[in-house]
Amino acid sequence: MLGYYPVPMNVLGIETSCDETGVAVFSTEHGLIADALHSQVDLHAMYGGVVPEIASRDHVRCLLPLVVQVLRDAGIERPDAIAYTAGPGLVGALMVGSGMANGLGLSWGCPVVAVHHMEGHLLAPMLEDDAPDYPFLALLVSGGHTMLIAVAGLGRYAVLGTTLDDAVGEAFDKTAKLLGLGYPGGPALAALAEEGDDTAFDLPRPMLQRPGLDFSFSGLKTAVMLEVRKTRDCGSFDAQRANLAASFQRAAVDTLVGKSLQAARRESLERIVIAGGVGANKLLRSEMARRFDGQVHYPRMQFCTDNGAMIAVAGALRLADAGSCDEIRAQARWALDTLGPPGVTPATG
Ligand code: KG4
Ligand code: ZN
Repeated sequence: MLGYYPVPMNVLGIETSCDETGVAVFSTEHGLIADALHSQVDLHAMYGGVVPEIASRDHVRCLLPLVVQVLRDAGIERPDAIAYTAGPGLVGALMVGSGMANGLGLSWGCPVVAVHHMEGHLLAPMLEDDAPDYPFLALLVSGGHTMLIAVAGLGRYAVLGTTLDDAVGEAFDKTAKLLGLGYPGGPALAALAEEGDDTAFDLPRPMLQRPGLDFSFSGLKTAVMLEVRKTRDCGSFDAQRANLAASFQRAAVDTLVGKSLQAARRESLERIVIAGGVGANKLLRSEMARRFDGQVHYPRMQFCTDNGAMIAVAGALRLADAGSCDEIRAQARWALDTLGPPGVTPATG
């Protein structure tokens, strides 16, 4: 499945970095064999964003039952290795997954792998039948990150560009709030945009005309805020909400696709991987496929947002890093490009 393994291995993946409890089993022989997800969206919706303490407590409540369920679904009593998200993310939430993974590893006597959350996103397309070959360009777009990465191989990452302010998912969420949509805003804004005219408002495509591969989304968000004020003042806000959503989405997607094409051209890369929560955006997927003349890969929709399957597959690919359970790792910050190939002691950020 993932190349040669001397002995087939079942890897249990545990994801608790933010507001989803994800658990899965990936077999190096058969691929993904079980997967379950508990979303906390309803718990945080009334606060308009993730409340870290509530997130941690809910992971405590849900994680062990999900592990039991997934092992039962996989038809195994125990895995051969455990992979867990060690960062970046909310420290309290990460500690739940890390504590559980290391505790289970200790009792089962099996090795444990600390996985970088964004590497999990980046490797999620490896769960698919048409998994990309190296090298490729990765556009990693989530609630906390917007990055363009030249991926030469597993753990060989060069960050080409990143956001100077808001992450694109954050811009979707904040713009959705301005438009009176609930949390999480990205999917709701994308749904509203389908009813709107994306040429109705002339919004900026930040950084697109500038050299370099960095992004900036706070100006776009501010431009929407000004338009919202204007439409409110003249009483046309309700009539213009869908047009505002569509114009925002188009501007954000034009920026992401434009910079990705520049990066692919500059680095002579013929494959692009789109991963992370915003990778679920249909316009982003279709525009990248329309405008890029190489191959575009992305995980299936449910593996774009946070999930256990991407952590399980990343753990399977990083079995060479597995260690004994002597350290509970939970890091809020952890730069992706400090990772090395498997077998090289992973940096601690
Ligand atoms: O990867 P993810 O689940 O969590 C983080 O690691 O941040 O990404 C969540 C982000 C949120 O900002 C959410 O609004 C955004 O992904 N998102 C979308 C869509 N689905 C999720 N943004 C735009 N369009 C979507 N369809
Ligand atoms: Zn994520």
